[in-house]
Amino acid sequence: MIILGFESSCDETGVALVCTQRGLLAHALHSQIDMHREYGGVVPELASRDHIRRVIPLTRQTLKQAGLSMEDVGAVAYTAGPGLAGALLVGASVAQSIAWAQQLPAIPIHHLEGHLLSPLLAQPRPEFPFVALLVSGGHTQLMQVNAVGQYSLLGETLDDAAGEAFDKSAKLMGLGYPGGPALSKLAEQGDAALHELPRPMLHSGDLDFSFSGLKTAVLTRVRALEREHGALSKQHLADLAAATEAAIVDVLAAKSLKAVKQSGVKRLVVAGGVGANRHLRERLTHAMQRLGGEVYFPPLEFCTDNGAMIAFAAAQRVNAGLVDLRDPSHAFTIRPRWNLEEVCVQDSCVDLATDG
Ligand code: KG4
Ligand code: ZN
Repeated sequence: MIILGFESSCDETGVALVCTQRGLLAHALHSQIDMHREYGGVVPELASRDHIRRVIPLTRQTLKQAGLSMEDVGAVAYTAGPGLAGALLVGASVAQSIAWAQQLPAIPIHHLEGHLLSPLLAQPRPEFPFVALLVSGGHTQLMQVNAVGQYSLLGETLDDAAGEAFDKSAKLMGLGYPGGPALSKLAEQGDAALHELPRPMLHSGDLDFSFSGLKTAVLTRVRALEREHGALSKQHLADLAAATEAAIVDVLAAKSLKAVKQSGVKRLVVAGGVGANRHLRERLTHAMQRLGGEVYFPPLEFCTDNGAMIAFAAAQRVNAGLVDLRDPSHAFTIRPRWNLEEVCVQDSCVDLATDG
């Protein structure tokens, strides 16, 4: 069966075609980063309007790329949550309308399930079970993934996400949006040892994170440097960027390794935009080598938000017999906040309170 999938939970419009037997056939993506840049962050209303503009042309492009027509599609999947309500509504209503018009089943997908299964889109493909570090602008979670529909939350951030910590610190340093890539580039020329920044919850004994205090510490350092030197030089900024990156990477790496050791599962998968960070990659690669385990960094196009992971998650759920394809109803709802627990196979996951 061929599944047409839509992702529109935040600032990326993604469309994909996945075959339940053959895997990914084609996908197309439009990122709104350039549009939101001038506001310093995602503007929800602008995001929704842009999804409306992009979704149909991207659908045509994806079908063309795969050499298929709508008649070849057997089901339509979409991100039903968590995410921005208006943005989710665009993908959900387009998907449900197509499904209704073509008399096809529609499959609502949990965005985080898409992320958790996305490593299976790439080669080499990790085997189940694996520990997943999900680090993006909206999420910071450690999960154990045992099989399709079997996920356990091991730990998560109590406040800001890791990407948010990068972005907010970068903003305080005047580095623009999204700040993560800019901050990590600048950090290459800096000396992390020149600023002592906190490693929040490093020794908390659990697998949770907290990043909101870090931006306050960065702000304090920015103010102190301004008082001492007037305007900050590029070198001051590079040193502070290096120290900020080191603090975030230290905590992410330490907790990921703790999760691997605690779970006994020596396979770690890193998903989400922060997974592009060179220091994080190097640190985790060396640490997992020392442990005799494996670490997977799927290509960035599957780490950040995309339609392929949504169509793919739907295909995996169909193959696992978790979708009722006979449901004729096209009534739908979106879930801006949604516990992943609700999409797990009964009794297979524990303690999964998550939101966008
Ligand atoms: O997964 P993603 O594209 O979007 C969602 O948040 O869903 O992740 C974006 C986040 C942003 O916070 C961005 O600053 C961060 O990933 N990011 C990085 C790097 N590249 C992207 N953070 C640190 N170092 C990078 N190289
Ligand atoms: Zn995401």
